Order: sequence, then structure tokens, then C-alpha cells
Amino acid sequence: MTQNRYWRLDAHPVGRDFASALSLQTETLPPLADGEVRVAVDYLSMDAGTRMWMTGRTDGYQPPLPLGARMVGLVLGRVTESAAAGFAPGDLVRGFGQWAEYATMVPMLAGLEVVDDTVADIRQHFGTLGLNAWTAHMGVVGVADVQPDQWLAVSAAAGSTGLMACQIGKALGAKVIGIAGGPDKCRYLTEVVGCDMAIDHRSADVAGQLAQAEGGINAYFDNVGGPLLDAVLPNMAHYGRVAVCGMVAGYDGDKPLPGPARFDQILMRRLRIEGFFIPDALARGDAFPQVLRDWAADGRLNMPFDETVGLDNVLVAYGRMLNGANIGKTIVRLHG
Ligand SMILES: NC(=O)c1ccc[n+]([C@@H]2O[C@H](COP(=O)([O-])OP(=O)(O)OC[C@H]3O[C@@H](n4cnc5c(N)ncnc54)[C@H](OP(=O)(O)O)[C@@H]3O)[C@@H](O)[C@H]2O)c1
Repeated sequence: MTQNRYWRLDAHPVGRDFASALSLQTETLPPLADGEVRVAVDYLSMDAGTRMWMTGRTDGYQPPLPLGARMVGLVLGRVTESAAAGFAPGDLVRGFGQWAEYATMVPMLAGLEVVDDTVADIRQHFGTLGLNAWTAHMGVVGVADVQPDQWLAVSAAAGSTGLMACQIGKALGAKVIGIAGGPDKCRYLTEVVGCDMAIDHRSADVAGQLAQAEGGINAYFDNVGGPLLDAVLPNMAHYGRVAVCGMVAGYDGDKPLPGPARFDQILMRRLRIEGFFIPDALARGDAFPQVLRDWAADGRLNMPFDETVGLDNVLVAYGRMLNGANIGKTIVRLHG
């Protein structure tokens, strides 16, 4: 009889008070059903987008989690039992499982895949080889079509997705402006990542600083929405592109963010704005871009980790990520 601990969503969190809304539960694991795979979780990925699943919003890109459900997120771990073709005990796998010691998944529904366990640091399956890196590539290359010497601005630039977008921009020869919260993050972006400019959205006049980009911003990789988008739009170059990756400024509420106050600039500057969603690529069966593996191997892509230890501390890690204490990918390591 194996015991399992998991996080349950009991109520819709108010703001960023997660402790009042989620609780750690214990169960005896039921037998595996046909088609399922059970995984002993080594690492949990903390993703900003999951905040929206905790709300009651039904107009998001996927339905909200019902109250009383197990909290879901990306997990990385080893298969312990399998009743599904293609998965065997001992395989290292990544997919959308539960915030738990043991995650039970139906591979097709969970986007579960066997990943390479010979890489030097398996955490990179949440990093340079992970879905945030792929998302950044989809936005910078596929949607915004960033070209050498163009200006690329990125918001939440020192977070997991943003850091990858900045580095991909640099690898393509673009001039990159990272927008992030606080001087440490801004220093990291200019001194370590090589961004051409970093703007602290907590203290700076973002619109005024962006105006220094000669010729205007050609591409904006938007992770935030809200007031930052309003600061960027009047600073876009003509025929600029806005790749809408996320709207973390609006995930806490039950209502969507209002539309951009500077919507007029879409016409005035002939902008193209397009949203995109990495699970679409998974559903299509697209391959992870080889160029990301190459850049990870030659050092052009690096992902630092903000690591918290212990399933009991998941909400601490989650709060760190949403409140911006992280540089890079926020993860929870389950075992000490
Ligand atoms: N479209 C897709 O397929 C897809 C896939 C993955 C992620 N995403 C999106 O990518 C974005 C980043 O997600 P992530 O998981 O990589 O998290 P992350 O960037 O590692 O962490 C979230 C960051 O958001 C920033 N933030 C939080 N509230 C903010 C606010 N009100 N205004 C400005 N910045 C705020 C904080 O950075 P600061 O310290 O800089 O404020 C924080 O570090 C999210 O919007 C997420 O939904 C989209």
C-alpha cells in the first residue's frame, strides 16, 4: 500500500494568498487503470499560466480546475508502473501531472513524453530543453519573425520564458531590451544575458526608456499585458509585431484585463498582434526545435534555476515565481 501526498485546490485563491486555497492531502494510491502511467516525481515546474486554472474563468485557453481537484502542473520523474504502450518502469518522463509525490497520467491527455536521461542536468527538461524555451522560440521566430539588428523587447524578461526569449533574440542577432522587476534582474539581463538595455518596470518610466530605441521596437514578446503593453505600443516601429505569449498581470483576477488603452497604435503604426500557445504545437505533434538543442549545447542558451526543496514548500515556490523573486525557471525538487 503506497502512500501519496498531493496538493488539492479547495477554493479560488484571492490574489496571491495560496495557503488559504490549497491543502496538502494524503491518500493510499489506487491500482493503476488501463492506459495510465504512474510517475515518482523528482521535480515540479512552477508555471505562471497555471494561476489562471485556479480561478473560475471559463473563457481561458482551457477550462478551470474544478474545486476539490488535484492541482495540475508539469512534472519530471521516473515511471514506476505503466499500463500504457510506450512507457516502461524507469523511463524519465515529462508531462502535465499533479503536484504530488506520485503523478498518475494518461499519456495523450498529459502530453507525456519520454525524455533523455543522459543529459548532464535533467532539470534542463524544464529549462533549455523545456516547454518555456520552445514557447520562446515559437514567439520570437514563428510569430514575431525577429531579424538581425531589429529591436526586440521582452517583458517578464528574467523569468523562465522571458529569459529564453531574450537569449534567442541575441542568438538571432537582434538588439534586445529586457523589461523586468528590480535592479538585480536588470543587472543580470545586461551583464549575464547580454541584453542591450534592461528596464526596471517597478521604478522606471518604461515608455520613456523604450523611446531611446532608435527607429522603434520591431517586435514585442509580451508575457505580461496591462500597463506594460500600453507603454510599449506607442514605441513600436511601423509594421512591428507583438507576439502575445501571456498576460500574467491579469491572472489573479476572475475578470480579463481590459484591452490596451493604446489600441489606436495598432492602426497608426500598422502593427500585427498575434497570440500563440505551446500546447497547440504539442497537439500537432511538432518536433522540439533542433536549433534550441544546438544553442543549449554551444552555450548560447542557459537557464538558471530557482529551486525550492520539498513538496510541503510548493506554495512558497509558487509565490516566489509569481511575485518575481525568481531569476530563470522556478522548480520544486521533491527529494533533499
Ligand atoms: N503561450 C504559451 O504557450 C505560454 C507558455 C508558457 C508560458 N507562457 C506565459 O509566459 C509568461 C511567463 O510565465 P513563466 O511560467 O515563464 O513565469 P516566469 O516568467 O518565470 O515568472 C513570472 C514572472 O512574471 C512577472 N510578473 C508577475 N506579475 C507581474 C505584473 N503584474 N507585472 C509585470 N510582471 C509581472 C514576475 O517578474 P518581474 O520580477 O519581472 O515582475 C515573475 O518573475 C506568463 O504570462 C505565462 O502565461 C505562455
